[in-house]
Amino acid sequence: MWPYPRIVAHRGGGTLAPENTLAGLRRGMAAGFRAIEFDVMLARDGVPVVLHDPELGRTVAGAGSVADIDASDLAARDAGSWFGPDYAGEPVPLFVEFAQYCKAHGVWMNIEIKPVPGHDAQTGTVVARLAAAMFADELAAGRLERAPLLSSFSEAALQAARDAAPALPRAWLTSSLPADWKARARALDAVAIHTNHMRLTRGQAAAVKAAGFGLFCYTVNAPARARELFGWGVDGLCTDRIDLIGPAFN
Ligand code: G3P
Ligand code: MG
Repeated sequence: MWPYPRIVAHRGGGTLAPENTLAGLRRGMAAGFRAIEFDVMLARDGVPVVLHDPELGRTVAGAGSVADIDASDLAARDAGSWFGPDYAGEPVPLFVEFAQYCKAHGVWMNIEIKPVPGHDAQTGTVVARLAAAMFADELAAGRLERAPLLSSFSEAALQAARDAAPALPRAWLTSSLPADWKARARALDAVAIHTNHMRLTRGQAAAVKAAGFGLFCYTVNAPARARELFGWGVDGLCTDRIDLIGPAFN
């Protein structure tokens, strides 16, 4: 039901390094993590990049929509200075290079498909195809625990991902569980539900587990809360505080 690691570094290195960068991933790895969550969207030319915001300005120098800028241009921009001078010049990663680095280093991936608004299906299709091709051997051998888990708040992106790569597991991300959560998760053929721990109740956690889904929470930064959630039957979580909730957290 949850063959993946229990503790996942959010956006690579949590809040200890610039999010969604190779430097962040290396920071997570230095803390012992071999499991990360990161966000992916499409640049203007349809090439997926590792980024959280659909607009430049917060973590990436510049302004405008990611959908209006080619990936090569994005990859040349500074995604590190906002965090600190030590990270000046840290680039926006191309998804394929980033994922290949993870695979080469045995880092399990929760790939969050985060489409620029209006690009949902295309983003789901492209990311799922690339990820499935990269892990074709693992998928053919049924070694699902080694393959990435795709997740998204966008049901259109998840449907497109399922159509493009049915064998690659998907999780439905929802900030809280709506009344019809079970039917919607089943309609997506989702293996897991990823949700905001702050809105999850103990009863809901039990119901999700009883329905046979994996249950993953974002973004849990207090060890006592993490323990409580695991006590509720939660299977895994991602954290920004990779220094407080490490990969061997119990
Ligand atoms: O995938 C879990 C979490 O990352 C979802 O929210 O905004 O941090 O991408 P966000
Ligand atoms: Mg995310």
